[in-house]
Amino acid sequence: MASTPTKVLLVDDDPDAQDIMQIYLGQWGFQVRIASNGTEARDLADTYNPDIVISDVVMPELSGLELLRCLQSSDPGRPVILITGYSSVDMAVEAMKEGAQDFLTKPLDYSKLKSILEAARIDLKVRKESQELSTQLERGAGFGPLVGKSRVMKELYKLIKTVAGSEAPVIISGESGTGKELVARSLHDQSARSKEPFIAVNSAAIPQDLIESEIFGHEKGAFTGAIAEHPGCFELSNRGTLLLDEIAEMPILLQSKLLRVLEGSKIRRLGGVKEFSVDVRVIASTNQNPRHAVESGNLREDLYFRLNVFSLLVPPLREHKDDVPLLAQYFIQQFNQKHSLHVEALREGALKMLKAYSWPGNVRELKNAMERAVIMARGNWIETSHLPPYIQNPVAEDTSSFVLPLGVSAARAQKELILRTLKKAGNNKAEAARQLGLDVKTILKKLKSYGVH
Ligand SMILES: Nc1ncnc2c1ncn2[C@@H]1O[C@H](COP(=O)(O)OP(=O)(O)OP(=O)(O)O)[C@@H](O)[C@H]1O
Ligand SMILES: [Mg+2]
Repeated sequence: MASTPTKVLLVDDDPDAQDIMQIYLGQWGFQVRIASNGTEARDLADTYNPDIVISDVVMPELSGLELLRCLQSSDPGRPVILITGYSSVDMAVEAMKEGAQDFLTKPLDYSKLKSILEAARIDLKVRKESQELSTQLERGAGFGPLVGKSRVMKELYKLIKTVAGSEAPVIISGESGTGKELVARSLHDQSARSKEPFIAVNSAAIPQDLIESEIFGHEKGAFTGAIAEHPGCFELSNRGTLLLDEIAEMPILLQSKLLRVLEGSKIRRLGGVKEFSVDVRVIASTNQNPRHAVESGNLREDLYFRLNVFSLLVPPLREHKDDVPLLAQYFIQQFNQKHSLHVEALREGALKMLKAYSWPGNVRELKNAMERAVIMARGNWIETSHLPPYIQNPVAEDTSSFVLPLGVSAARAQKELILRTLKKAGNNKAEAARQLGLDVKTILKKLKSYGVH
């Protein structure tokens, strides 16, 4: 399909200049309309709706700078390129400050003009694509709080819908930052319990000796420091949904207590005598493969079976990279709002870098990178230089180093280190073991737990 040619409005009062320019623009594949002065250009801009404006600066009636202001007020993102016979630095500075795309002096350097126009054409394409993404986001490009339209994400949404209708426990697994908590929330939102509380408790973030009281609550005086009674998460989420985040990090003893509750036993607060029942739907999540967590002794097998009525696997971002542009646009909007900025889109080169990167920290890492980029960009565009250095220069695989974002779990870091060392050692397990200071048996066990053979 031939794309529609880019429309240029040329504003110049010199007929000779008009002629030459028209020939060049035509050769470069642009569609051209001509105005001989600023007022005419302003009117023509309304009807012709050009993608790019090239304007002389010194003109009778409306000057190029005044025209620029007019055009900016109707469409601030439209590139305006100014040309002047007087190489006035002051005017150039002012024009650029007011948002002119570029500034050229006569006699014109046509190859320079051509490259400016080519860059503007690419920006235009990218701008249209980002507007299209924004429209998609307005219409809802995902599922509840989850953004993404890739095949794998759509499959996940379908599963969430099915599972939400039931009362059964669910186990959600996936790497760190993939959106497990959002999946749990949308499960709750889709369920009959949506009007009731949704409580998340993260076993990895609470000191071990406090987890039990967090989950089951305690009476005043149950232990030193229990100065007041404290309802647990089970009570707080009564009639609603309780997310037990990082279930494999929960102390094993507590896991068996949890199992008993899931099997219908009543709840008793720490230090309490009264037993009571609660009506809670339990969702558990883990960033390990649950079966491997069982094998390594971090997750009780019986609890796993009880939770695993339904299991949802949230894919890592590298397996749905086609969602990267949409997610990036979503986060641009989110952070524009948070920081009162007006970033429009990623320049083509920056978007390419995001698509090429492997995202070990998944959507969370993308979100963090976009917040930084939006703040650094400030203007309309996110340039490659606004992206974190490790995304600009991803260390090529099988070189001597690799970068992990802060926030990934130690288990994930270890997995990455082992797999990369092994790759560098040409899959020689003995050599990899030697470099890592581990014995081969340990490596084999690890590989098995990663599902790698
Ligand atoms: N599909 C998505 N659409 C929009 N935002 C997302 C999506 N997935 C993740 N996020 C955002 O990324 C961040 C990380 O998501 P979340 O906390 O749900 O991940 P997680 O899998 O629970 O990570 P962890 O294992 O580290 O707890 C959150 O800020 C979340 O809002
Ligand atoms: Mg989480």
